[in-house]
Amino acid sequence: MSHHLLIARDLAFAYPDQRPALDGVSFALHHGEAVAIVGANGAGKSTLLMLLTGCLSASRGEVLLGHIRLDKRSLAAFRRSIGFVFQNPDDQLFMPTVFDDVAFGPLNLGVAPADVPEVVSQALAAVGAEALAARAPWQLSGGQKRAVAIAGVLAMQPDILLMDEPSDALDPASRRRLISLLQGFEHSKLIATHDLDLVLDVCTRVIVLGEGRILADAHPLEVFADDALLARASLERPLSMQTRGSAPARPAAANRAGAENG
Ligand SMILES: Nc1ncnc2c1ncn2[C@@H]1O[C@H](COP(=O)(O)OP(=O)(O)OP(=O)(O)O)[C@@H](O)[C@H]1O
Ligand SMILES: [Mg+2]
Repeated sequence: MSHHLLIARDLAFAYPDQRPALDGVSFALHHGEAVAIVGANGAGKSTLLMLLTGCLSASRGEVLLGHIRLDKRSLAAFRRSIGFVFQNPDDQLFMPTVFDDVAFGPLNLGVAPADVPEVVSQALAAVGAEALAARAPWQLSGGQKRAVAIAGVLAMQPDILLMDEPSDALDPASRRRLISLLQGFEHSKLIATHDLDLVLDVCTRVIVLGEGRILADAHPLEVFADDALLARASLERPLSMQTRGSAPARPAAANRAGAENG
């Protein structure tokens, strides 16, 4: 199924009056792959995802979905195939209620209105946000907004899922639910994240960005074992790969308080 092949070819982009945010980025996301994009703040992760979804236009290079080049004419087809969760949920949520927001995509894609409530409730249930359906999106907490934004994209049943910091602001149980959901989503995934433990749980390949260029494109265990690369990219080994000694000592103040209270 060639349309599940997403290709970035020599992508470059600069915001007005800025040095290039991306320069010469090339890779292919193959059908069913789960790929992470990692790198320091400002490395170009969000810019890359916005170029791949046509939210920004590349100054050089091209984006291909199978054999179709991303341009004004193909943009609608790209948006049908690619679900994009923005880094900031406020960029995504705009309807008066959570229900309307999650229903917006399926209705636009031509899902029969009678079927939409079921689609919405399944998507909200997948992120544990059923109880929020009647709420106004702008009145939600950061993590609730994130969950609803993810539901809105799931409801469109995309072939390819692009997510920008999907675990940001989620509580541990919601983060765990997201990880299971991503593990169960059998289509292609491209996830920009600082959550390197999520990368280990979900992804089989990591693209490391540094100052707009690809520094590495390899298996997570290979990337996270390369201390020089991690330092260059302002990354650290995921917590679950850091060697654990004996149980961490309790802070002195806590010990004292414990002794006084005990
Ligand atoms: N709207 C904008 N206008 C001007 N420059 C921008 C804009 N958005 C991003 N940049 C710049 O482009 C570069 C890449 O930013 P980008 O948001 O893609 O980084 P990122 O890797 O997603 O960072 P983070 O981890 O903080 O989300 C940075 O130097 C940033 O300052
Ligand atoms: Mg970003």
